[in-house]
Amino acid sequence: MSAPPLLALHGVCKRYGAVEVLVDIELEIHAGQVVALLGDNGAGKSTLIKVISGVTPADKGVIEWEGRTVHIRRPNDARDLGIATVFQDLALCGNLDVVGNLFLGREIRRFGFLDEMEMERRTLRLLQQLTRGVPELRAPVVSLSSGQRQTVAIARSLLGDPRLLLLDEPTAALGLQQTTEVMDLVDQLRDRGLGVLLISHNMGDVKALADRAAVLRLGRNNGFFDVNTASQEQIISSITGATENTPRRPAHQEAGW
Ligand SMILES: Nc1ncnc2c1ncn2[C@@H]1O[C@H](COP(=O)(O)OP(=O)(O)OP(=O)(O)O)[C@@H](O)[C@H]1O
Ligand SMILES: [Mg+2]
Repeated sequence: MSAPPLLALHGVCKRYGAVEVLVDIELEIHAGQVVALLGDNGAGKSTLIKVISGVTPADKGVIEWEGRTVHIRRPNDARDLGIATVFQDLALCGNLDVVGNLFLGREIRRFGFLDEMEMERRTLRLLQQLTRGVPELRAPVVSLSSGQRQTVAIARSLLGDPRLLLLDEPTAALGLQQTTEVMDLVDQLRDRGLGVLLISHNMGDVKALADRAAVLRLGRNNGFFDVNTASQEQIISSITGATENTPRRPAHQEAGW
């Protein structure tokens, strides 16, 4: 029997006041797989990431982690499972330096004092694995390029050795070279066996990198695709709503992926 998905969502709903932002969402992410989460502006992508990361818990529905039902009510619940998130706004502290940002809230201490040397050493080791252009570790993050900031945010998310990484539009503000770097990094993480949920508006990135794509439209599922076999047109028309399609179960389950 094949292993259960790392993460599965069934019938997940989220409303803000009278507005139903997510309705009956189904989603599966396997270890070693990049799933692109696609949809137009306001489709509910960031909200779904916030639900999975415990920032705004779901109102209804079942979340399974490796086949077991779990409750994600706060960020610590997600972190304890091994879910790490890089949010759309990165949530870095601009006035703190790179090391300070990585270890904010989980500082390493030695004899009661901050162990700056150790934190610096670990920051450098992690960044060297991720990028060739390691930023100045003691520079305030506000002085870094947007690509470097994205790398710092990803590095911070990897500190706890997560098994699932949620990335909300990691390349939206990046140039070509930096985008390639982030994409290479995601590729590397998949090779290490992580599951990745990647929000992107860039179909080129999705085609180059993702294994599967899940499309949201107006807060509902609107199609699941095997990126290797689906055409770009099929995926785009599912995003724009040219093909209305709200399956109860991921299509790959029906197709026996
Ligand atoms: N805290 C909130 N309170 C009320 N409504 C919200 C809140 N957060 C999001 N929404 C609404 O939920 C809907 C989905 O928003 P969300 O940010 O999840 O979309 P998105 O798919 O990430 O869009 P984008 O591509 O623009 O980032 C939008 O209509 C948005 O206005
Ligand atoms: Mg968003």
